Amino acid sequence: DAAYDMVVVSNRLPVDYDEGPAGETRWKSSPGGLVTALEPVMRQADGAWVGWAGVADREFDPFEHDGISIVPVPLSAEELEDYYEGFSNDTLWPLYHDVIAPPSFHREWWDAYVRVNRRFAEAAARAAAEGAVVWVQDYQLQLVPRMLRESRPDLVIGFFNHIPFPAYGIYSQLPWRRQVVDGLLGADVIGFQRATDASNFARAVRRLYGYTTRGTTIEVPTGDGESRRVVARHFPISIDSAGFEELARRPEIQARAREIRESLGNPKTVMLGVDRLDYTKGIRHRMKAFGELLRDGRLKVEDAILVQVASPSRERVETYRQLRDEIELTVGRLNGDQATLGHQAIAYLHHGYPREEMVALYLAADVMLVTALRDGMNLVAKEYVACRFDNDGVLVLSEFTGASDELRQAVLVNPHDIEGLKDAIVEAIEMPHRERARRMRALRRRVRTNDVANWSASFLETLTGTGKIAAGIS
Ligand code: G6P
Repeated sequence: DAAYDMVVVSNRLPVDYDEGPAGETRWKSSPGGLVTALEPVMRQADGAWVGWAGVADREFDPFEHDGISIVPVPLSAEELEDYYEGFSNDTLWPLYHDVIAPPSFHREWWDAYVRVNRRFAEAAARAAAEGAVVWVQDYQLQLVPRMLRESRPDLVIGFFNHIPFPAYGIYSQLPWRRQVVDGLLGADVIGFQRATDASNFARAVRRLYGYTTRGTTIEVPTGDGESRRVVARHFPISIDSAGFEELARRPEIQARAREIRESLGNPKTVMLGVDRLDYTKGIRHRMKAFGELLRDGRLKVEDAILVQVASPSRERVETYRQLRDEIELTVGRLNGDQATLGHQAIAYLHHGYPREEMVALYLAADVMLVTALRDGMNLVAKEYVACRFDNDGVLVLSEFTGASDELRQAVLVNPHDIEGLKDAIVEAIEMPHRERARRMRALRRRVRTNDVANWSASFLETLTGTGKIAAGIS
């Protein structure tokens, strides 16, 4: 096995398996904020990326893709159901997002989660050189840090949780709450999006294990009367903001933005929502508010359109299927009630799009609606801001996103408050140009200073710093 000094482990690889017309193997970029965030980091570090190729019952040899070494971990169809669709996305996902949907607890799912986490840990241990840095990502792999520490005490182990970590009252519902906390405590540094997530975790540690926590440090007894120091703190993730701005400045993408507006009939106001089709995103809340504004005559269908990009996600999980049905019913009703022959109210697109097209959409949108009910960060909000080098456009942002901790100059909303949301949408549409520019300038400054390179550098600095302390170097 090759030995790498830097290994990233995540459920999903940056590439998904895809079959060509003649049955040949092709690799296409995979969706998701995590991949978007880590790809530039990995390209620089010349490390290995351990993860699943997005297809069941297939084994692949390690390979190179776009300058990144890829180490695929196989999953059987049954493991996919129990570990990925089940425990990751029907237990942990709803639980960690404040039980917006009810989580299901099944012992077979947990068993599969343990088994698959072990397989990822073994693959990472094989790829890692002596003393390497291994950076484990997200809720699907919370047991990997402990498993790695046991087999490879030489490694420096980091973990980053991309989604929220809930308050103890919610977290404590998990039947395996002690095992998961113990799994995470195998890391040297545990990163979260928001300060609240980190303090929720510290509280869970105190309640379940009684360990001492001081600020961002947790003292974890090692059994020999000694203890290890684990750092748990927040590192808000970001995007490649310069990359987005560069795309936005390209003449052909600006031309495409104009073309999009024209194809929508050049309305006064284009509003935009961009989400994975997920029940945490508050898509129905925003449609409800928009529909009522049209119904009440505060907006006219000739003047305003909502473009909703909802990229397909986790379609084999029942809650997601139901959500798709509900959203599509809502869109049909709304257009049926409010559209005219020449003007639709909502343009609904159940597709993922390449980044260039997304940037054109951001440029075409006067108002960006991010109304998530709970979201670890929400990178869409940051992407919109990064693209608006013209200092125009208004971001309406839910206070239940991690992004709202940083993006204070957005029009902040509580998406559960439909009246408040309606007022915020009208405020955004009517905001004077000077005010829009003032806010966007401040937002852009923020997204430029904390970009994804900053995020990974500050996590890795903390990680290698503590690694040295643990090894007695400094
Ligand atoms: C979120 C999670 C990621 C996940 C992505 C896409 O951003 O934090 O871990 O990869 O959603 O979801 P999927 O289930 O398709 O990987």
